[in-house]
Amino acid sequence: MTEVPSPSTPDYTALEFSAAPAERPYVISNMVSSVDGKATIESTERGLGSDTDRRLMRELRVHADVVLTGAGTLRASGTSSRLGDPALEALRTSRGKRERPIAAVLSASGELPLDRAFFTARDFDAVVYLSDHAPRAAFEALLGTGRRVVMVPHDDALPTMLRHMREELDCTLLLLEGGPTLLGQFVAARYLDECFVTIGPVIVGGDRRVRSPVETADAPTVDDVTRLELLAVTPNAATSELYLRYRVI
Ligand SMILES: NC(=O)c1ccc[n+]([C@@H]2O[C@H](COP(=O)([O-])OP(=O)(O)OC[C@H]3O[C@@H](n4cnc5c(N)ncnc54)[C@H](OP(=O)(O)O)[C@@H]3O)[C@@H](O)[C@H]2O)c1
Repeated sequence: MTEVPSPSTPDYTALEFSAAPAERPYVISNMVSSVDGKATIESTERGLGSDTDRRLMRELRVHADVVLTGAGTLRASGTSSRLGDPALEALRTSRGKRERPIAAVLSASGELPLDRAFFTARDFDAVVYLSDHAPRAAFEALLGTGRRVVMVPHDDALPTMLRHMREELDCTLLLLEGGPTLLGQFVAARYLDECFVTIGPVIVGGDRRVRSPVETADAPTVDDVTRLELLAVTPNAATSELYLRYRVI
């Protein structure tokens, strides 16, 4: 049996990425999964990843111009684009980027928790992408928080949002931080370029109500699945986690 090498953590601050296409940002995702492919315990991701995993999440943010989550994740866990370490912020500014990425959320309903840091904090910029089917009152309540609200067509949200990020926010690298519904849409639309996955040393079990990292509406066929090429794998003996980086073929 091969032993896991001594504790080893990748340096995500040193990553390099391909250039963005002209019409949208280069899109990467980051999720933590249990060994049995589950993305939540008791409806949040808490308990799946270690402090090292959370550090790597913040290191990935060093590269991002925008950090996007779906509204479900904002409601379940709250979201921000903070780096939590002045050294990481200094690294960004030394590379010509603003101190913190722009945080963004996508919502159809507009039912968002306005008391969360995403809306109340002023140490990072944030944008709400809101379906044009959302009630007017929700739109006005969101505007009232002082955050930018960008309307997107209900049936064509992703391309419009990505174009806006590229053209109006100067975003060349978009980091998706979940959840499963949002990731499923990016995968189905073939907008995902790379994914980072941490496998946490836990078996969650449960039935189909327990979420997996990527969910789409349909049951895919063999021809539909998204094939990946492994770019890097780092086992960490101290946390028993695996850090994986894949490129979409
Ligand atoms: N393991 C991990 O790494 C990880 C990471 C992130 C989240 N999570 C977990 O995942 C769960 C949340 O995931 P989720 O799948 O329920 O939610 P989600 O993917 O975060 O957000 C889904 C919501 O985003 C909005 N949305 C998605 N696509 C849209 C489109 N094309 N147009 C307009 N709005 C769109 C809708 O918002 P409205 O409902 O407002 O209309 C939709 O209900 C939480 O339990 C969270 O803890 C786990």
